[in-house]
Amino acid sequence: VLCWFYVYPAYRLPRDKDIVDEVLRQGDAWTKNQTGIDLYRKLLSECCDPGRMFAVTKENSPMGKVLWYDGEFYHSHTVNNETYRLFVQDNPLQLPLKKCAVVGNGGILRHSKCGRDIDQADFIMRCNLPPLSKEYTEDVGTRTHLVTANPSIIEKRFQNLLWSRKAFVDSMKAYGSSYIYMPAFSMKPGTDLSLRAYYSLSDTSSNLTMLFANPEFLRTVGKFWKSHGVHAKRLSTGLFLVSLALGLCEEVTTYGFWPFSMGLNEQPISHHYYDNILPDKWFHAMPEEFLQLWHLHKTGTLRMHVGHCP
Ligand code: CDP
Repeated sequence: VLCWFYVYPAYRLPRDKDIVDEVLRQGDAWTKNQTGIDLYRKLLSECCDPGRMFAVTKENSPMGKVLWYDGEFYHSHTVNNETYRLFVQDNPLQLPLKKCAVVGNGGILRHSKCGRDIDQADFIMRCNLPPLSKEYTEDVGTRTHLVTANPSIIEKRFQNLLWSRKAFVDSMKAYGSSYIYMPAFSMKPGTDLSLRAYYSLSDTSSNLTMLFANPEFLRTVGKFWKSHGVHAKRLSTGLFLVSLALGLCEEVTTYGFWPFSMGLNEQPISHHYYDNILPDKWFHAMPEEFLQLWHLHKTGTLRMHVGHCP
């Protein structure tokens, strides 16, 4: 039997309008807080060891290692001949990264003119193979160093890569020579899709490097935020990337994180900068995540860009 308190959370989130008011009150005021930055880097390295663990590597996942899927119970993959050789040797990033930009896909980016700002970062992370075509350049920029690809996108947008590999490989050119970060060991059906994406890229000598997200890292990051009060079945991709950035970068700026139905001018706003397809409400807890990020912004640990860029 479903009790009301399972359906309605006991805590109350502020209304969209209250969040708008709060963000406007804060305005452009922001002061970097090195103590906060150091603290979060320390907390994240203690819980989750991002530098060593964010990707599946030959070093952290030798032959025979059991990788437990973080998105479902009692499923695992034992590293074998076929998978081991697809793993990078070790963490390929040059650490520490300096200025990082983490770009969410929120509709707040539309007409933001943040493209130039974003492109000036040293390391740019994006979520879920977002469109970077000309019409968006001014708002979201063109450069990418790491982009996530959920296997479900491969399924929906590229018909499981059964016959449309060229469309996939061509569309990946938008991300230059970046890392493509796929949660290959999170949900069972994602493994084959991720391997197929890997082979599609390697067969065509693509410039992209595939990194498989380490399910152990995803699980520990999930626990970290749970202990900070994020009540989601699964964290959003954006929060995983912000956590990675807080662990690896000297400075973190976020763009496109705004999971609300109105903009700062109180006008309706689309969910994404490129469409208005809404997420599954019970799966993610984006507004709750936003409040966590907003707290980090106010305390100077990262900088959130919500409005227009100068
Ligand atoms: O697949 P998922 O729902 O996680 O992400 P998405 O819709 O492709 O957007 C990428 C990320 O941007 C999300 O994971 C959120 O962290 C963030 N986002 C946001 O904060 N506000 C929005 N309106 C849309 C996305």
